[in-house]
Amino acid sequence: MLRAYSTAEDIQDIATAGKILAQGGTVIIPTETVYGLGANALDSSAVKQIFAAKGRPQDNPLIVHLSDISELESVAKNIPQSAYILAENFMPGPLTIILQKRDIIPLETSAGLETVAVRVPQNSIARAIIKAAGVPIAAPSANRSGSPSPTTFAHCVNDMQNRVDAIVESIPCEVGVESTVVSLIGDVPVVLRPGAITPEQLRAVLGEVLVDDTVLSPPKENVQVASPGVMHKHYAPNANVTLIIGDTLAFAEYVNARAGEQDCAVCFEEDMPHITGKSICYGAKNAYDEQAKRIFDTLRELDNQSIQNAYVHAPEKVGVGLAVYNRLLRSANFNEIQL
Ligand code: TXA
Ligand code: MG
Repeated sequence: MLRAYSTAEDIQDIATAGKILAQGGTVIIPTETVYGLGANALDSSAVKQIFAAKGRPQDNPLIVHLSDISELESVAKNIPQSAYILAENFMPGPLTIILQKRDIIPLETSAGLETVAVRVPQNSIARAIIKAAGVPIAAPSANRSGSPSPTTFAHCVNDMQNRVDAIVESIPCEVGVESTVVSLIGDVPVVLRPGAITPEQLRAVLGEVLVDDTVLSPPKENVQVASPGVMHKHYAPNANVTLIIGDTLAFAEYVNARAGEQDCAVCFEEDMPHITGKSICYGAKNAYDEQAKRIFDTLRELDNQSIQNAYVHAPEKVGVGLAVYNRLLRSANFNEIQL
């Protein structure tokens, strides 16, 4: 079954989506970051349907979405003061916190971990649906596992039609990259995945905050990673992606010397006049928010155009640019060139 909903005002459709979720079904919901594939986080058989629909590895835990921060204590325990500080400053919003889980969260949701990832989305349709469902909603990004995350209704239909019970139609996601994930399990908070809430913003309210090594480098073999998600193939189009660090002219020279008919530069507006072959722009050089909003659609466009080799101009690691860089590094399978 595929249902489309167009506006937040459509109370009836929100109620229907909530009902499907409450009854153990799967519904794709819009959020401000990316579309999420939701199911009842407390129901292990509902959660199993998420893993099946995505083809997701069983060891990758899910984020539990709440309609309001007041529900935090129902899913987590031994909550540190830092969680309340983050909640006050950034929730609802594109931030996920890792806490000790309560037994009510099944091990299917946490992928066997004794911790739980919790987020309250900013998107009012998402919160209305979670509220209508009456239960916390587990929701990974609504893409087939390994593919770029979905930031439009069309991406969701493309990946998930006939694999879920319903897809809620809404506008393209405002942020465009997934939430910042911060672990509050140890003494010092650690960013496990960068997003729109930056390490600087977190430090401004928490003091010391670490950024996990895996944000900017491949996970080392034989080392236990804090976030299982970083181990898996991610955000990858069919094209071979090379991430290139360098200025406009060096980038253009490198690409122009190599790119064939089926290859493409993925670049900034400023690069476009210098590229002789195919190119796709993902924003201006310093427009980090715009780059975040466009990056996953751009990666999907490479497949629409059957591109073989994509030469991607790396963003600055500033603001949400760090998150865009982190996703591109993974889509390139850490194949990065410094000019
Ligand atoms: O913006 C978002 O966070 C989106 C929307 C739909 O809310 N969701 C999302 O979920 O990106 P997903 O499953 O694609 O990514 C969740 C990330 C994974 O890297 C996973 O390993 C990590 O969060 N994660 C979840 N639970 C965790 C836990 N208990 N400990 C450490 N990492 C965890
Ligand atoms: Mg994902």
